[in-house]
Amino acid sequence: MNIKQTLLNTLAEAKGGYISGAAIAEKLGVSRNAVWKTVKALEVDGFIIDSVTSKGYRLSEASNKLSADLIAPLIETSRLGCQIQVYDEIDSTNNLAKMLTSQGYPHGTVIIADRQTEGRGRMGRSFVSPAGTGIYMSLILRPEYGLDCAPLMTSAAACGVAEAIEEMCGTHVMIKWVNDVYIHGKKVSGILTEASLGLEMKILDFAVIGIGVNVRSVKDKFDSDLSRIATSIEDETDLKLDRNVLCAKMLNKLEKYLDMVESKSFLDEYRSRELLTGNVITTDVGGETLKGIAMGIDDNANLIMKLPNGQLKKLSSGEASLCRLQEQ
Ligand code: BTN
Repeated sequence: MNIKQTLLNTLAEAKGGYISGAAIAEKLGVSRNAVWKTVKALEVDGFIIDSVTSKGYRLSEASNKLSADLIAPLIETSRLGCQIQVYDEIDSTNNLAKMLTSQGYPHGTVIIADRQTEGRGRMGRSFVSPAGTGIYMSLILRPEYGLDCAPLMTSAAACGVAEAIEEMCGTHVMIKWVNDVYIHGKKVSGILTEASLGLEMKILDFAVIGIGVNVRSVKDKFDSDLSRIATSIEDETDLKLDRNVLCAKMLNKLEKYLDMVESKSFLDEYRSRELLTGNVITTDVGGETLKGIAMGIDDNANLIMKLPNGQLKKLSSGEASLCRLQEQ
């Protein structure tokens, strides 16, 4: 680790508190002048560092630059986040993550970007990913469980994302089947999972779980159609969350919930947050629009829908809408 990385790490570990120049110098084994010069270099890189004569240095609340050196000290996982790569701009973190799987990158590798130029959503849609506002993150997973568990990974991930956001903003966070995360009836996060089968076709060779979270205000960044259905954590709660801290919390929660996929023990949490259950919904099946009541989530994370004739229909993929909502 170079001196810049170690200094960032030290500031992250202080969790917003001040740490004296002398203490940093001693920890890093360099002079106080070298600490000062490194602080200046970090400021040139885009970090905002408060400096107060009697107290020392701290990472400013206004600092909004994503950095692996600020995320890594905050994660408490065993494997998720074993390698973290952060980019200012990339086409799509899922694209890079998929490429890296073919280069043998291990389970738990995480790719994060400040901005995506070709962010991808489900059903062939794009995912608008402007700079300085969101977390665009892809996880490389090499799960050891069978194919039957694969569809459950996205639902488990949604629980992790929802719990992390809820703990940081204190506002109830819901999940709209199958994988959208909602605050106050509007979407703040979406998940796109892409997987490749092993040669034996019985296990996954790899899965890439791509998560997009709108953290800082998206007013003026989304067009009017998108603004009707999507929002950001800041626009709903007035909180300017630290994206690095949220990244770390999400990784902690994602590992917790992904570890529950085989036992399916995350499903109660998923059900307790699910937004469609009990409501009138519509869904498109084979070109036909069906209307019915969402009855709940079964043990394979399918949505059970009751049609007007009383018939129960199991939805395993695609999407469903509350009658009053439109989809992104
Ligand atoms: C959806 O809501 O339809 C899913 C959106 C998934 C967006 C994330 S952002 C990180 C990763 N990279 C992408 O290109 N897409 C996913």
